[in-house]
Amino acid sequence: DSGVGGLTVLAHIRAALPGADLLYVADSAHAPYGDKPAEFIAARARLIAEFLIAHDAAALVVACNTATAAAILALRERYGLPIVGMEPAVKPAAEATRAGVIGVLATGGTLESGKFAELVQRFGSRARVIVQPCPGLVEQVELGDLAGPLTRRLLEGFIAPLLDAGADTLVLGCTHFPFL
Ligand code: DGL
Repeated sequence: DSGVGGLTVLAHIRAALPGADLLYVADSAHAPYGDKPAEFIAARARLIAEFLIAHDAAALVVACNTATAAAILALRERYGLPIVGMEPAVKPAAEATRAGVIGVLATGGTLESGKFAELVQRFGSRARVIVQPCPGLVEQVELGDLAGPLTRRLLEGFIAPLLDAGADTLVLGCTHFPFL
């Protein structure tokens, strides 16, 4: 991931595979990914994949929605090992909503990607999908500010319009957001 977000994924991997040797890369020098061009993120993903493979990784997890959207197809074409990615949980949200309206919180990079458009195409017909880019939120998580006034203000600003539009189910479409 671009930073600490993928640790939310790592915790689940550790619980599922307690014996696995895990190597985590936080590309903090280049965080956030969400407002950077897809080509830049794909180049970072390639370099990090090569680092992990050089350290004998048997499988890769792209623990970032933005990097998955930008890079996973190219990574899978290039490298022969299993590569698991993230995608916003539009499918379970569309199944869970009673109001028929779901809100997706994610980075601009994820929401503007072709992969996300495909996802909404596949599962979005069951519900109205409202997207909400969240500039500044990943930076707050990277700073460790999970509940301070600025973080709360940002969250309220992003979530209030979704609730006003009738959303009863929110998708945390960025691996940094479960910390919030
Ligand atoms: N954690 C990443 C994701 O799931 C993005 C964070 C970023 O913008 O760097 O999309």
